[in-house]
Amino acid sequence: MSQGQYAISEYHDTNEIYAKLNNLIRQPMRPVKREKMKGFLDYFEIHCRRSKELTDEARKYIPGGVQHNLAFNYPFPIAIEKTEGAHLWDADGNEYIDFLQAGGPTVLGSNYAPVREKVVEMLQTCGPVTGLFHEYELKLAQLVNRFMPAVEMFRMLGSGTEGVMAAVRAARAFTRKKYVIKVGGAYHGWSDQMVYGLHIPGTGRLESTGIPRGASAATEEFFPNSLRALKRHLIFNRIRGGTAAVIVEPLGPESGTRPVPFEFNQKVR
Ligand SMILES: Cc1ncc(COP(=O)(O)O)c(C=O)c1O
Repeated sequence: MSQGQYAISEYHDTNEIYAKLNNLIRQPMRPVKREKMKGFLDYFEIHCRRSKELTDEARKYIPGGVQHNLAFNYPFPIAIEKTEGAHLWDADGNEYIDFLQAGGPTVLGSNYAPVREKVVEMLQTCGPVTGLFHEYELKLAQLVNRFMPAVEMFRMLGSGTEGVMAAVRAARAFTRKKYVIKVGGAYHGWSDQMVYGLHIPGTGRLESTGIPRGASAATEEFFPNSLRALKRHLIFNRIRGGTAAVIVEPLGPESGTRPVPFEFNQKVR
């Protein structure tokens, strides 16, 4: 596939981004001044009352009051009522620009009419689920294959977490090898084996409360962008069960917030 066919028409200058990031990190910590903070908190108290009421009530029934970690917000989560393209409206009628995009999936914008209309049509004819086959499953698999020819066969799962679990299992079954290597800080869902080196590279099992040690015993991490560190793992694993898979977020760990150079994934392969 030629470079022109990628969805990203202009790849970032990775060095420039890291120079900026490093500049930012070198600056001294600047706490928010007390009176400024009061201003921010007052804003939420006054303008987002309904969100506060709803999520206070939700906390009694839902851990933390929200169903997805992305929805946590300080001083309280915002209850979204309406969406359109790049804009969100909360339960108090405040309008927001949606930089979050559901963490990635709403690439067409929220509530994109052609998708919504088709979904409604499907619900009216077939309901939300049958457990059986529908022609659209074939159409979707064909579309995915057309735009991503490397995806020769396509099985849909309910979440990214499950997709990763299935991919890891398939990789181990196919290669008969043991280890799975991820990039430190990268997120691949919350399955027991993938809660390893989350958020901060090098932290291993730090966030794995409730997960038996054995579950992530064959998971490893390497420092973002360090092909040398990856190579060390690959060589070392050869003598103790082999590497079944190296899993990456293609644009870099934590949704590309630590971006990878253009050739990185190719070099990993
Ligand atoms: C790269 C990546 N893999 C897996 C997941 C997990 O997906 P889900 O939240 O649907 O389980 C995410 C979610 O943010 C992700 O960004």
